[in-house]
Amino acid sequence: MGTLKTQDAGRIDTLIGRMTLTEKLGQLTMMSASHTVTGPVITGHSVSDIRSGRIGNLLNLIGAAAAREMQRVAVEESRLGIPLLIGLDVIHGHRTLFPPPLAEAALFDAQAWALTAREAAREAAADGITMTFAPMLDVSRDPRWGRTVEGPGESAWVGARLAQAKVRGFQGADLAARDSIAAVAKHFCGYGAVTAGREYASVDVSDRALLEVHLPPFAAAVDAGVAAVMPAFTDLAGIPMTAHSGMLRGRLRRQLGFEGVVVSDYNAVAELIQHGVAADLIEAAALALEAGVDIDMVSGAYLEGLPAALERGLVGLAQIDESVRRVLTLKARLGLFEDPYGRGAAAESAAVVAERRRLARDIAARSIVLLTNGSGALPLPAGIGRLALLGPLADAPAEMRGPWWSAADPDAQVSVLAGIRAALPQAQIRHASGCGIADPDDSGIAGALQLCDGTEAVVLCLGEAATMSGEAASRAHPGLPGRQQELAEAVLRRAGARAIPVIAVLFSGRPLIVPWLAERASALLAAWFPGCEAGHAVADVLTGRTSPSGRTPITWPRAVGQIPLFFGQRSGGRPADLAGPFASRYIDESTGPLFPFGHGLTYGRFTLSHPRVTPQSARASDTVEVRVDVENHGPRRAQETVFLFTRRMKSRVAPPTLELHGVGKIALDAGASGTLTLPLALEELRAPGLDLEPALEPGAIEILVGPSADRASLLTCRLELVD
Ligand code: GLC
Repeated sequence: MGTLKTQDAGRIDTLIGRMTLTEKLGQLTMMSASHTVTGPVITGHSVSDIRSGRIGNLLNLIGAAAAREMQRVAVEESRLGIPLLIGLDVIHGHRTLFPPPLAEAALFDAQAWALTAREAAREAAADGITMTFAPMLDVSRDPRWGRTVEGPGESAWVGARLAQAKVRGFQGADLAARDSIAAVAKHFCGYGAVTAGREYASVDVSDRALLEVHLPPFAAAVDAGVAAVMPAFTDLAGIPMTAHSGMLRGRLRRQLGFEGVVVSDYNAVAELIQHGVAADLIEAAALALEAGVDIDMVSGAYLEGLPAALERGLVGLAQIDESVRRVLTLKARLGLFEDPYGRGAAAESAAVVAERRRLARDIAARSIVLLTNGSGALPLPAGIGRLALLGPLADAPAEMRGPWWSAADPDAQVSVLAGIRAALPQAQIRHASGCGIADPDDSGIAGALQLCDGTEAVVLCLGEAATMSGEAASRAHPGLPGRQQELAEAVLRRAGARAIPVIAVLFSGRPLIVPWLAERASALLAAWFPGCEAGHAVADVLTGRTSPSGRTPITWPRAVGQIPLFFGQRSGGRPADLAGPFASRYIDESTGPLFPFGHGLTYGRFTLSHPRVTPQSARASDTVEVRVDVENHGPRRAQETVFLFTRRMKSRVAPPTLELHGVGKIALDAGASGTLTLPLALEELRAPGLDLEPALEPGAIEILVGPSADRASLLTCRLELVD
């Protein structure tokens, strides 16, 4: 997390020597604030608590003036003048919204991930924010879980790269810079594996799953110098993460070498009582401090409980001082002692914001995944004259934000209707929502159907409201809500009878279970929640101004019953493709996904050939190069994404059937061909920095390259690993 200047170290020692217990506990407390007409207020507390030093950190305060006022009170009216950490969930933008992380993961582009984080940091810092509770790094293979939208998808390898990019983007080259903010890697650890995809439910994964799937993104975040980590609300095999000394002081600090601040989730310290591991706030506070939680977010347990815990000998003053030192060290590294008002001092220019929106449009267009285009319905014909734009998400600007919209104005989002009209000014665009997003009213379906008559194409915008994914938004039936399926089926019948193409665009924070729609729509796209420039981004892809290049970072199941479904699952002794009835299959559903990890079509038509690896035998410490020839047989220039997987043919521990180790992209004009080279550092074939099995065992390693994790699409070659 970077080094501390000498004078700061001295300052911190002096401060700790002068602080009362209340002032120390205040530095370990973060309370929620908001900005009202009369000025900033702190939920359940008064601004005098900042003056007295009882509150040393805030979250949820939006607006540079409000942030500055609270910072001023802390610096100029409290006894020791210690500045505040001011935190906010800047997950995918602050006032200018980019697509949420799951959608951004579809770019498979670490530079883009870092760039949007950098822009979000600049915008948030201009509002006086000093810390974001991001990146969220919970690997999830369960579309029922609402928070899948906030994370990197199903791959730990993608999660690790997203972690590094986001931490570097948020924190910049210098954490003390006025446009840098502290990143918080969350939610440590395993939250994405909640039982049955139900929010906040218990997590019980094996050590191996922890090491192979859930820890690598956090190891990468620590490696990138993340300033803070937030434990998950959940328990891990019965021990709540907020009280999990083995994971916080053990794995995170001792094994991964994390030196930063651990900040609890919202009220999580007090919720140790509900977990059943603490009798009261005193015990809850003691357990959390003992486990290594430095800041208590909102619960007040540290303020109210630690004095008694000290008296009872449940904790020692040294532990409190250790946490206070980490918090003051972070404030010093943020430059807050020298420059407490720097963040928020200068408003951003309109030109800077306009440029950021242009970036948001590009990122959103690149996040869109073209799932099917069977009849070549897309791109829309250049001279299209009549278009029916239907569905409850067609003119829903506020929903385009997705969850965790920070300070983004609901009216500042471009709807699909506005984007399509701007892109096709000469066309007659007829619009009807047809039904609501989730309400039972189907009275609008008939009117919508009439707009299908006489049109050249139908664009059907379906999916979820922004609040139907994110926190506290698990769904047992993650399909189209409300009466949308009835609307879609009626439109498909009506348009189908007139040979009119129906292009379905899905807006959601998760894969939706829609095999019937994939089967019948002329084309199907996953637009996720595209953010502030949604309408322009969707129009760019539908009209061909941008050739779709997004690839799904999470498997789309055919049925809820298949969940969890993800690439590379271990074979087992009777794999699904074994002949005969005694194989790992269902008797009432296929085992394969609707769309595999990495799936995404383009407006080109690519073929891969001649996979080869050089050298063909290597040691575990070597880096080899994998090459594959790529040709674009399609009618238009497009960008192909190629994934590099490996499979160890034998290992003491049954190896996953696919492990992701690289992604490459190549853009080719129609008819052009090229060669893609993908480096593979063999050391990577073990989990990064974790105590998995001993070094790689000599033997054959299969190299597989292709456009997705669909085994049938992969080309293979062999590498011999030698001692
Ligand atoms: C929420 C979330 C966490 C967020 C925090 C502050 O409950 O679990 O991700 O950062 O509270 O809003």
